[in-house]
Amino acid sequence: MANGGKVKVGIIGSQFQADIHATSLQIMPDTAEVVAVASPTPGNAAAFAKKFGIPRVFTDYREMLKEKDIEMVTIAAPNSLHAQMTRDCAEAGKHIVCEKPLAMTIAEGEEMIAVAKKHSVLLMYGEELLFTPKYLKAKEMADAGAFGKIYLVKQSEKHFGPHSEWFWDVNRSGGGAFMDLGCHGIAFAYWFMDRSPIKSIYCQMGTYVHGNKTQAEDDSLCILEFANGAAALIENSWAHRGGMDDRIEVHGEAGVTYANLHMGNALPTYSEHGYGYAVEKAPSTTGWTYPVFEELWNYGTPQELVHFARCARGIETPKVTGEDGLAIMHALYAGYASAGEGRKITMPFQSPAVKKPIDLWLNGPARRQTK
Ligand SMILES: NC(=O)c1ccc[n+]([C@@H]2O[C@H](COP(=O)([O-])OP(=O)(O)OC[C@H]3O[C@@H](n4cnc5c(N)ncnc54)[C@H](O)[C@@H]3O)[C@@H](O)[C@H]2O)c1
Repeated sequence: MANGGKVKVGIIGSQFQADIHATSLQIMPDTAEVVAVASPTPGNAAAFAKKFGIPRVFTDYREMLKEKDIEMVTIAAPNSLHAQMTRDCAEAGKHIVCEKPLAMTIAEGEEMIAVAKKHSVLLMYGEELLFTPKYLKAKEMADAGAFGKIYLVKQSEKHFGPHSEWFWDVNRSGGGAFMDLGCHGIAFAYWFMDRSPIKSIYCQMGTYVHGNKTQAEDDSLCILEFANGAAALIENSWAHRGGMDDRIEVHGEAGVTYANLHMGNALPTYSEHGYGYAVEKAPSTTGWTYPVFEELWNYGTPQELVHFARCARGIETPKVTGEDGLAIMHALYAGYASAGEGRKITMPFQSPAVKKPIDLWLNGPARRQTK
């Protein structure tokens, strides 16, 4: 890499995850710095830049990509834009951090990987659960043999639904709770199993609470079987009350560990008056609440982005890539097909190249019968 000093980063997007990216790089400021932000809504990028002290502001991200000194771009925009943005970043010679899920379709995901290769840039996949300190500890213990042979891993992420309108529109998101949150759980389990191939998927999903605002599923259960003989259970919800809930369990023949990401890092608190902020997506701060401390550090996003910046300089090798994102996309498709057809799907599954994942559930015979 030609540049010395800190890795110069541009962020596409200026809302939820963009804020996490900028904050994360300020938490760990030694390796990388955000020098530009691009977001189309007038005033948003400027306000974001002011908040974080970012010198360059763009309403069109393509203009930002012309900045020669930017080495790495993080894509924190709706899922339906990931493919086009990745293509543009690659063509501009920028290393890419693409937020999850990788894309809307398999065809898009494959093209993203190909275009990054063609232009010799890295396509890194934003899955912070591989950097979450508490979950890393579980993996380290597993690798050290603490639990013997592992037969079951569980991961669940649940809350009462996303903060932005586009998530609820399946044409912009590709799917509901399973697509949005299940991609984390599948990535986690796949990584925990040292990328043992996924052999089968069985999913159950429904729209239980938010049918007035989305076609998408707001709750899903997913069972994965791996080639190594172990299983994973992934539970996701946009219908879960009480703020964000993210947890894992690891079960082996010689032991078990449980990790609750939020409650386990919280101060059980009672307040009549409330206070500023408890935790992501918490509905209030009065009564009993569980405020977390060092929230982003506990998620692992600063560690993730610093690792990616070091990869951009060739100092480290990406721990999670576009190829991982694509493997997860295949699993998502199989999961939606399973719920749509009401049966276990054996992998490899011929994911349709262009339909979005949720179509396999929305149009599936099992859903049509129960709707
Ligand atoms: N890793 C995680 O835990 C996590 C958490 C939240 C979101 N995400 C992912 O991050 C991505 C963004 O989600 P979010 O929650 O920040 O959404 P958001 O709605 O809060 O923000 C989306 C941003 O994209 C911008 N945008 C829209 N069209 C654009 C365009 N044409 N050019 C440039 N910017 C454009 C919007 O202006 C906005 O700033 C999604 O893919 C989402 O799945 C990941």
